Amino acid sequence: MKTLLIVYHSMTDGTRQMAQAAASGAGGELAVQVRLLRAPDAGPQDVLLADAYVFATPENLAAMSGLMKDFFDRTYYAALDRINGRPYAVLICAGSDGRNAAKQIERIATGWRLKSIAEPLIVCTHAQTQQQILRPKQIAPGELTRCRDFGAAIAAGLSIGVF
Ligand SMILES: Cc1cc2nc3c(=O)[nH]c(=O)nc-3n(C[C@H](O)[C@H](O)[C@H](O)COP(=O)(O)O)c2cc1C
Repeated sequence: MKTLLIVYHSMTDGTRQMAQAAASGAGGELAVQVRLLRAPDAGPQDVLLADAYVFATPENLAAMSGLMKDFFDRTYYAALDRINGRPYAVLICAGSDGRNAAKQIERIATGWRLKSIAEPLIVCTHAQTQQQILRPKQIAPGELTRCRDFGAAIAAGLSIGVF
């Protein structure tokens, strides 16, 4: 049995829906246990015990969200040199960009010597005004299907050992 750890943070629910969709896609793979944890609830032991990772965050102020950064700050050194070579992928929920948040996570993953197994999947909610940005998000069904397929592909690869 392999374990896929999905760690996420979400302020207006978009990233949570994406992470949940990826988890339900991955959950179709019987040989893979999926653990979906909010960033504040995830710690070093969760990282050490997983075989693969999905990191999911909003892009806030051209960066990953503060609580996602806090997760990495709390786990980075405890896991350093103990998870080398494990596969990972990234989900980003952004208003209009998302690339900086993805790049920050990629740099941390490079430090951890993780292996990227997919291009970051970025969903843009097109929220522009203050009101739109602060409103709860509803991720479009087509985007959630992409997230579900993303999770399913990672779990399938993990179960047959292609990574
Ligand atoms: C404080 C703040 C800063 C933001 N900065 C960015 C940004 O730099 N780039 C971007 O594309 N979207 C930005 N957004 C928009 C969010 O990424 C977008 O609303 C997304 O849906 C948030 O994900 P969530 O619903 O999981 O919280 C920002 C939102 C907030 C609240």
